[in-house]
Amino acid sequence: MRVIVTGGAGFIGSALVRHLVLELGHEVLVVDKLTYAGDRRTLAPCEGRPGFAFLQADICDAERMRAALADYAPDAVLHLAAESHVDRSIASAAPFIQTNVVGTFALLEAARALVAGYDAPRAAAFRFLHVSTDEVFGSLGPTGAFTESTPYDPRSPYSASKAASDHLARAWHETYGLPTIVTNCSNNYGPYHFPEKLIPLVTLNALEGKPLPVYGDGGNVRDWLFVEDHARALAAALTRGTPGRTYNIGGRAERTNLQVVHAICDTLDRLRPRSTNEGPTNEDPADEGPAPRRDLITFVPDRPGHDRRYAIDPTRAERELGWRSTLTFEEGIERTLRWYLDNEAWWRPLRDTYAGERLGLLPDNKKDTA
Ligand SMILES: NC(=O)c1ccc[n+]([C@@H]2O[C@H](COP(=O)([O-])OP(=O)(O)OC[C@H]3O[C@@H](n4cnc5c(N)ncnc54)[C@H](O)[C@@H]3O)[C@@H](O)[C@H]2O)c1
Repeated sequence: MRVIVTGGAGFIGSALVRHLVLELGHEVLVVDKLTYAGDRRTLAPCEGRPGFAFLQADICDAERMRAALADYAPDAVLHLAAESHVDRSIASAAPFIQTNVVGTFALLEAARALVAGYDAPRAAAFRFLHVSTDEVFGSLGPTGAFTESTPYDPRSPYSASKAASDHLARAWHETYGLPTIVTNCSNNYGPYHFPEKLIPLVTLNALEGKPLPVYGDGGNVRDWLFVEDHARALAAALTRGTPGRTYNIGGRAERTNLQVVHAICDTLDRLRPRSTNEGPTNEDPADEGPAPRRDLITFVPDRPGHDRRYAIDPTRAERELGWRSTLTFEEGIERTLRWYLDNEAWWRPLRDTYAGERLGLLPDNKKDTA
C-alpha cells in the first residue's frame, strides 16, 4: 500500500511508520510539522527505504494538504498529527483547537477532494484512519470499561478537541461517504516517548536522581498499551476495519499512577542500581548500598479536572481485527526502560530543551500548595 501518515515523526506515529515500512513493506509519506514533539531521528531506520518520503508541513494548511494528497495519491491517510499533552492544553488550548480540530477538518476535506478523483473501486478501497484517545469518554468510577457505545464526555481542552475531531471524521463518513475509521486507544508507552509524559519523565528523573512527581494521591488509573502493539492494531484497522466503525484499543493493563511509578523505580533499581553520584542516596551509614529510587517519589498538586479512571474494553478490536496486545505491562516496562538506558543520545538533547517543569497548573492549584 501507499499511505500518508500525519504526525509520523511523533511517538506513536513513528512507531507506526517503522512498522509499516520495515515490517510490512508499505510506501509511506510522512506529513509532520515537527513541533517540539516531532523528531525526524525517530524515522532514521526508514530513511532511504523504497517509497519512504518526508514532508514538513502543517496539517492546518488546507491548500498544502490538498496538494500533498493529490501529488502522492495514497490508498489511505493515517491521521495521528495532534497536540497531545493534557497539561499543555490546560496552559494554552489554542494550538489544540487549531491542530486537532481545524487540522483534522483540512485533512478530511483534502481526502474528500482526492477520492472524488478516484474511480469507484479505488474510492471504495480508500481509508481515512483517524487515531484518537479513550479520554473522549470522560472519567469512570472504580468499575466498568469504555466500549465503542460509551457516550462522549470529554473534560479537558485536549480531550474536547479530540472528541470534536472524532465527530468530524464520523460526519464525513455519514454525510460524504468518505471511508473513515476511528480508533480510541489508551495510554501508550515505549521507545521514543517525549519526556513530558508520565513514564519517560519519571524514568529520566529517576536516572538523574531527581524528584519523581506524582499528581494528587497517585490513585488515578489508566490502561497502558505498548506502542508497538498499538502500531500493529492500527495496521490491522487499516486493512480489516469497517468504514464508519470505531475500535477501542487497549492493553488490558490497568494500573494506578503510583503503581506505574513503583514499577519504574523497581525495574531501574534492578537494571541499573543507583550510584552515589546520582543525587541523594541513603544517608544512614549503617545501611548498605544506595537507597531505592522509590525514595525519590514526591506527591505534587493534582492536575485540574484530573479524570480518576479510564479503562478500555478492546473486545471488538480483538474479535473483528484479529488483534491482541502481546506484552504484559511488566514486559513492556522492562523493554521501555532498557531502551532509555541504551539510547541516551536520543533523549539527552530533548532534556536540554524541556527538563520536566510543571505545566498546566491554575493559580488556585498553586495557592493550595503554598
Ligand atoms: N500518547 C498516547 O498515549 C495517546 C493516547 C491516545 C491517543 N493518542 C493520539 O495518538 C496520536 C499520536 O500521539 P503521540 O503520542 O504520538 O503524539 P506526539 O505529541 O508524540 O506527536 C504528535 C506529532 O504530530 C506532529 N504535529 C503536531 N501538530 C502538527 C500540525 N499542525 N501539523 C503537522 N504535524 C503536527 C508533531 O510534530 C508530532 O510529530 C494523537 O492524535 C494523539 O491524540 C495518543
